[in-house]
Amino acid sequence: MRHRGRATSAQARALEQLLPRYLFAPPATPPAPPPRLIDANALAEAFGRPAPLAVELGFGNGAALVALAKAKPHWNCIGVDVYRPGFGALVLACAREEIANIRIVDGEASHFLGRLPGASVRQLNVFFPDPWPKKRHHKRRLVNAEFAARAAACLAADGRLALATDWPGYAEQMRAVLDAEAALHGGVAPRPAGRPLTPFEAKAVAAGRHVVDLLYHRASSTNSRCAHG
Ligand SMILES: C[S@@+](CC[C@H](N)C(=O)[O-])C[C@H]1O[C@@H](n2cnc3c(N)ncnc32)[C@H](O)[C@@H]1O
Repeated sequence: MRHRGRATSAQARALEQLLPRYLFAPPATPPAPPPRLIDANALAEAFGRPAPLAVELGFGNGAALVALAKAKPHWNCIGVDVYRPGFGALVLACAREEIANIRIVDGEASHFLGRLPGASVRQLNVFFPDPWPKKRHHKRRLVNAEFAARAAACLAADGRLALATDWPGYAEQMRAVLDAEAALHGGVAPRPAGRPLTPFEAKAVAAGRHVVDLLYHRASSTNSRCAHG
C-alpha cells in the first residue's frame, strides 16, 4: 500500500538522484508450477482395474457415493472431502456392504479436480456444497468459473456433471458459471433417480428450502459427432 502525500522538492530530487543507490528490489518469486496431473494408470492401480471413473466432491457421510458405487459396480468411484468423521461413516458402509469400488481422497476438492487427467471422468457429482451465504464469503464457493473450466476439462466426451443445492443464490451462481463455460451444456434438471436424501438435504427440506438439481454434459461430444457427420 503506498502512502499518499506530496514529496517536497528536495525529496523529489533525492528520489530521482539518490534512491536508485539505496533501493533493493527483491527478485520476483517465480510463479508456482501448475499441479501435476494424476496419471490414468495411477487411478486404475488404486482400484486394481481400469474402469469408467466417477468422482464426488464433498461427499459428507458418503450416502450418495455408496448409492452410486452400488448402482455401478463396474465403475471406479472416488470421493473427495476433508471431513474425517464422514470418512469414518463411509468406510463403515463400505465394509458393511462389501463395496470394493470406492476410494477416498483426503484433500481439497478444486485442487483434486485440477489434477484429474483430461476427459477421464464419466460422472462428476457435487451435492450441497457449502453455500457460504454471506456476500463477502462468496469467493470461497467451490462452484465458480475456475471450477467450470476444470470440470469441463476432466469430463469424458459422454461425461455428466450433476449438482444440487438448497441455496437459491448459489443455484444462480452455478448456472451462471456453468452456462458461461462453452464446453458444457445443461441446466436445471429433475432430481437424479439414485441421489439419496442426505442429512444435509433433510435439514434443508425441514427448514422449507427448495432444492435445485442441475445437470450438465460436455458440449464437445455433440460437436465432434456433428464434425464427423
Ligand atoms: C454441506 S456438506 C454436504 C455433504 C454431502 N454432499 C451431502 O449432501 O450430504 C459439504 C461437504 O463438503 C466438504 N467440503 C467443504 N469444502 C471442501 C473442500 N474445499 N474440499 C473438499 N471437501 C470440502 C465438507 O467437509 C462437507 O462434507
